[in-house]
Amino acid sequence: MDLGIKGKKAIMAGGSAGMGRATAERLAEAGCELTISARREPRLRQAAKEIAEKYGVPVTPVAADSSTEEGRNALFAACPDPDILSITIKPPDPNGDVLKVTAEMWRGAIETALIGPIEIMRHYIPGMKERGWGRIVNIATFSAKNPMIWRLLSGPARSALLNYTASVSRHFAPHGVIMNNILPGMFATEGFAEHSEDDRIIENLAELFELPPTQEAVTKHFRETNVIPTGFMGVADDLAPMAAFLCSERARYIVGQNIVIDGGQYPTIF
Ligand SMILES: NC(=O)c1ccc[n+]([C@@H]2O[C@H](COP(=O)([O-])OP(=O)(O)OC[C@H]3O[C@@H](n4cnc5c(N)ncnc54)[C@H](OP(=O)(O)O)[C@@H]3O)[C@@H](O)[C@H]2O)c1
Repeated sequence: MDLGIKGKKAIMAGGSAGMGRATAERLAEAGCELTISARREPRLRQAAKEIAEKYGVPVTPVAADSSTEEGRNALFAACPDPDILSITIKPPDPNGDVLKVTAEMWRGAIETALIGPIEIMRHYIPGMKERGWGRIVNIATFSAKNPMIWRLLSGPARSALLNYTASVSRHFAPHGVIMNNILPGMFATEGFAEHSEDDRIIENLAELFELPPTQEAVTKHFRETNVIPTGFMGVADDLAPMAAFLCSERARYIVGQNIVIDGGQYPTIF
């Protein structure tokens, strides 16, 4: 299928690994000129080089943290006028004891997982509106829709992002600016591997679920409590084609939706 976005300028904020990188690759495959950002520069530069070589499109890497004003300004300077914007960020780590989640931790979560994406959207919407065409896709999380006791510092801030997108998408759809969210479930990505091996996260989860503080005990608990009907965890490219589709000309009638991609883990109708 021709996605109808050849030659469009696309930003993948959070594009050096995982679902962000896979989405960047699908946009490059569709012929987009790319700007990709991430915090860690060596991996970012390597990703940009590999994508440019594989798909023959220009890929500009921008080392920038989307959760800071300085980082966002670096992104804005590198690509002032994108047609397509996709954003993902790493939220704060899984929490331990819920009663130890402080106001300061909430502020950090909101700054990263809500204000960062909103500020990037807010910066680019006027140009998209003026040009009469734009696509915005947030890669958020299924815990925005399915509350999870261990994802207090990710889910609630992203639920607010969904609420924001639901309103703002209807406001700008008449101008050809189309916004949607994708809510991933469990995916075997670089970010997931980092989480699984991080001693602090293992300690948090062991405290929360009253388990021995070992990787084995925590992994066993998650295997037993996260039943995925497909029988396997997703890989990044199980999500990326949907992200590229929502960024495409073909998505012009899909507005303010939240697409869950989780192998069927959460049995909800809406
Ligand atoms: N994997 C899962 O099982 C799972 C489950 C539910 C939800 N999710 C959500 O899905 C999204 C993608 O996850 P993933 O597993 O693909 O993660 P990943 O493998 O860690 O990839 C995330 C990408 O975003 C970049 N990034 C993270 N924070 C950033 C920031 N503040 N500013 C700029 N770039 C940033 C990372 O590079 P740097 O680290 O170098 O910045 C990397 O390029 C995340 O929002 C995650 O919460 C994932």
